[in-house]
Amino acid sequence: MTTAPLPPFPPGFRWGVSTSAYQIEGATTADGRGPSIWDTFARDPGRIVDGSTGDEACDHYHRYAEDVGLLADLGVSAYRFSVAWPRVQPTGAGTANPAGLDFYDRLVDALLDAGVEPVATLFHWDLPQPLEDAGGWLHRDTAARFATYADLTAARLGDRVKLWITLNEPFVHMSLGHGTGTHAPGRALLFDAFPVAHHQLLGHGLAVAALRARTTSPVAIANNYSPVRLAGNSDADRAAGAAYDALHNRLFTDPLLGRGYPDGPGLDPGVVRDGDLDAIAAPIDVLGVNYYNPTGIRAPAQGSPLPFEIVPLAGYPRTAFDWPVAPDGLRDLLRWLRDTYGDALPPIQVTESGCAYDDVPDADGRVHDAERIAYLDGHVRAVREAIDAGVPVTGYFVWSLLDNWEWAEGFTKRFGLVHVDYATQRRTPKSSYAWFRDLVRR
Ligand code: BGC
Ligand code: BGC
Repeated sequence: MTTAPLPPFPPGFRWGVSTSAYQIEGATTADGRGPSIWDTFARDPGRIVDGSTGDEACDHYHRYAEDVGLLADLGVSAYRFSVAWPRVQPTGAGTANPAGLDFYDRLVDALLDAGVEPVATLFHWDLPQPLEDAGGWLHRDTAARFATYADLTAARLGDRVKLWITLNEPFVHMSLGHGTGTHAPGRALLFDAFPVAHHQLLGHGLAVAALRARTTSPVAIANNYSPVRLAGNSDADRAAGAAYDALHNRLFTDPLLGRGYPDGPGLDPGVVRDGDLDAIAAPIDVLGVNYYNPTGIRAPAQGSPLPFEIVPLAGYPRTAFDWPVAPDGLRDLLRWLRDTYGDALPPIQVTESGCAYDDVPDADGRVHDAERIAYLDGHVRAVREAIDAGVPVTGYFVWSLLDNWEWAEGFTKRFGLVHVDYATQRRTPKSSYAWFRDLVRR
């Protein structure tokens, strides 16, 4: 790399890496775990591009000690993992399954022994299947169930987890899981998916209250954001951009930060009851920001069911996912959050940032992922620029520690700092792992 050295970050800045349960754990029937919507969805022929499931994934459930060793060598201050709800409550209700919680107990202790702060996400999309059978997030009762699960988990881990994250990307779970049906549970409801937004947010608010009763650790949510890039400059294009922005960037943030739901075509969830908005706006300590790419938008064609059309963005390098590489989007997004929400904005941690490339070991077994290093270097610089512009950013987590099971893409997309050979479960740190280790040391 010939780029200039990175300027120093503020003391106490949290450097970390992220994963999620279904993408890495495997062992989907071990110790009483119940089925989740992703177990069901992955078994449905044609849903996953390579026909794979998360049954084995990275076998992290059995190899967590080795993976904590990789974290220790990497030198990160924090590790963001998710707890699988169906391990804690196999049917989504009732008392906790102690054997399921034992796994996270062991993981948390191993992290603390290694000097790595545990950051736990409670919901990274793996809803217990029995709750889906009862209506899932379309059903208001799921919000209350989520708070019970949060309580049970914090009762066991609340003394040691250093940051709690309620939900991961409720926007993606709503839009891909319930709007287009490309993620579990596979419902294609378009705008009729909106109750899923409200019930997730309500579940978040109720879970914040449950967590506060069990722990003094900070509480957060991790939202997915994507700055809009207009592919035209007509009034209709601008209106389409505003509609997309309200849907992707504001639907989950306005109510969280006390503004109620944004105006926009189709954005009224229609299921809001008295008191819900207050519950949703319960103060949070950190806003988690997951950023991958901006979105190109133009006015929809006549008769489109959507108020916008998503178009590919020209002029950027692209990842193996065909996502544009646009670090300036992260800088713009962070500044937009500060400018839009002002004093209502809590400190931000970038809870996911990363990229997929077709990483293949060379003849010596090494993986030279120069593109990932360039990607991360650009995005870390974007964070630094945002901090210099006065945005309160206090952490940055790379997605992901390991290559893992990338949802509908199965094993075909590799996001890790560590290469995984799925046939042998052999872990090989890539060049980006060494690069990130050097960054964290400085
Ligand atoms: C988002 C990603 C998300 C993906 C789902 C993209 O548009 O930027 O964050 O994971 O869709 O495949
Ligand atoms: C999700 C991750 C996913 C990543 C890459 C994020 O939207 O939280 O689970 O692997 O993007 O698509």
